[in-house]
Amino acid sequence: MRTPERPARLTFPDNFLWGSATASYQIEGSPTRHGGGPSVWDEMCRQPGKVYRGHSGMTACDHYKFFKEDVAMMKDLGHKVYRFSLSWPRLFPEGVGRRNDDGYRFYNELVDELLKADIKPFITMFHWDYPHALFQRGGWMNPESPEWFEAYAKDAVGFLSDRVTDWITMNETVVFLIMGHLTGEHAPGIRFGRADVMLMLKHALLSHGRACMAIREHAKKAPRVSYAPVAGVDYPVTETPEAIEAARKSTFAASPSNFFWSPSLYFEPVLKGVWPEDAAAYLGADDPKITQAELAVMNQKIDVLGLNFYQGNPVEPSADGVTKVAPKVGEPRTGFEWPVTPDAIYWSVRFFWERYGVPLFITENGTSALDWVALDGRVHDGGRIDYTRRYLQWLHRATAEGIPVEGYTHWSLMDNFEWAEGYKQRFGMVHVDFETLKRTPKDSAYWYRDVIASNGESIW
Ligand code: NOJ
Repeated sequence: MRTPERPARLTFPDNFLWGSATASYQIEGSPTRHGGGPSVWDEMCRQPGKVYRGHSGMTACDHYKFFKEDVAMMKDLGHKVYRFSLSWPRLFPEGVGRRNDDGYRFYNELVDELLKADIKPFITMFHWDYPHALFQRGGWMNPESPEWFEAYAKDAVGFLSDRVTDWITMNETVVFLIMGHLTGEHAPGIRFGRADVMLMLKHALLSHGRACMAIREHAKKAPRVSYAPVAGVDYPVTETPEAIEAARKSTFAASPSNFFWSPSLYFEPVLKGVWPEDAAAYLGADDPKITQAELAVMNQKIDVLGLNFYQGNPVEPSADGVTKVAPKVGEPRTGFEWPVTPDAIYWSVRFFWERYGVPLFITENGTSALDWVALDGRVHDGGRIDYTRRYLQWLHRATAEGIPVEGYTHWSLMDNFEWAEGYKQRFGMVHVDFETLKRTPKDSAYWYRDVIASNGESIW
C-alpha cells in the first residue's frame, strides 16, 4: 500500500463534518413495534437459509430503546454529524396512505436529542428497508413506485425539516436493485431478469428525482439535497497522465465484465441527465428506454454528492483500455476480504469531482473485523485505526488539492446487522454485545475522537 507524503500544512476545512453513519434496519430493532409495518428485510430474515445463521434485525442494537444513550455516546466521542436513515415502514406501515405517528415520535425525539447534543442530523430517506406491503404491489417494478416514494419523502420532510436540513434520498441504489432483485442475496431475494431490473432502476431513479423535488418544495428550512451511491472506481497504480486517463475512462464506461456495478448507470442520469449510450447498446432489447422527460426528472440539483467508498480496482493502461492489476499474494484485506485500497479514495473523490463538479461528502467508509472485548475490558481494533488513518490521509490529499469535501461519516458508529451476513462481522467503532446490548467504545473510537478534536492533524 502506498502512503501519500505528509503535507507541510493540513487543510481539512475548518468546518469539516466528522461523524459516523448507521441505517434504521441495521441498528434500531423492534421494526414493527408501536404500529410499524414489516419491511422486505423482515420477510427475508424469516426465510431459512437467506441470512447468516438465521440472524435478523428484530433486536439489532435496540437503538429504538437506547437512542438517548447512543446520542450521549456520540457526543462523548466528539462526533459533529450523524448520518442515519428513517424506516419507511415504521412511518407508513403499508408504505403509502396511513401514517404511523408513533414512528414520527421516535424520529422527532432522536432529532431533538441530536440537536441538544450539537450533532447535525443527516437523514437518509431510504436505506433498503422497503415496505413489504409495497413489494406485494410490485415494488420497484410498479410504475406507481416513484409516486409512493415522493409521497413518503414529502411527508418526512414536512415533519422533520423544521429542524433537519440535510437529506439523502437513497443509499447505494446498485445494492438494493442488483443484489436484491438480480442476484438475490439481499431482500427481497428474488432473481428477476435483467429487463425487469433495469425497469426497476428507471423507477428508482425517478423516485430519487421526485423526492428531490418534494424536499425542495416542502422543506421549512433551506434544504441540502444529497444522494449516496457506491463510489468505487478503477484507479491508476502509477500516476502517469496515460494511466490516469485510462482509469478515468474505464471507471465511467459501462463495462460488460461487471455491467450492473458500473457507476455510470447510477450517476449519469442523476448528475448529467443522460442515460449512457454504451449501457443502452449493451442492454439491447432490455434497455429501459428512458425518455428525455424522465431524465429531466432524475436530473435534479444535488447540493452535496455522497460517496460510499470502501474499495477501488487497481488498473494499468493497456492497448485496449485498461487491464486489472492482479491481487498480490497476502495483500491486505478486511474481514470480508475486501481489498484495502486507501489511495483509491483519493481517485474516487477526484474522478467524481472532475466529472460532476458537485461538492462531496464521504457518506460511508470503514472496515469489518472480528473484534472482541479483551481481558482488560477494551476492544483493541488496531486494524480499523490503521485502515481509517490511511484512507483519511489519502482523502486529505484531495482536500489539499482544493476538491471540496464537506465531511466524513465513518461506517459505522457501532457494530450492527450486516444484511445477509447477519452479525458475523463487526463494522463499528463501538462494540455491541448482542446478548446484553452493552456498548464498549473500541480503541478506534478514542483514536477517532482525537482525529476530530484536531480536525485531522492527528492522522499523521
Ligand atoms: C454499505 C451499506 O450502505 C451499509 O448498509 C453496509 O452495512 C456497509 N456498506 C458495509 O457493507
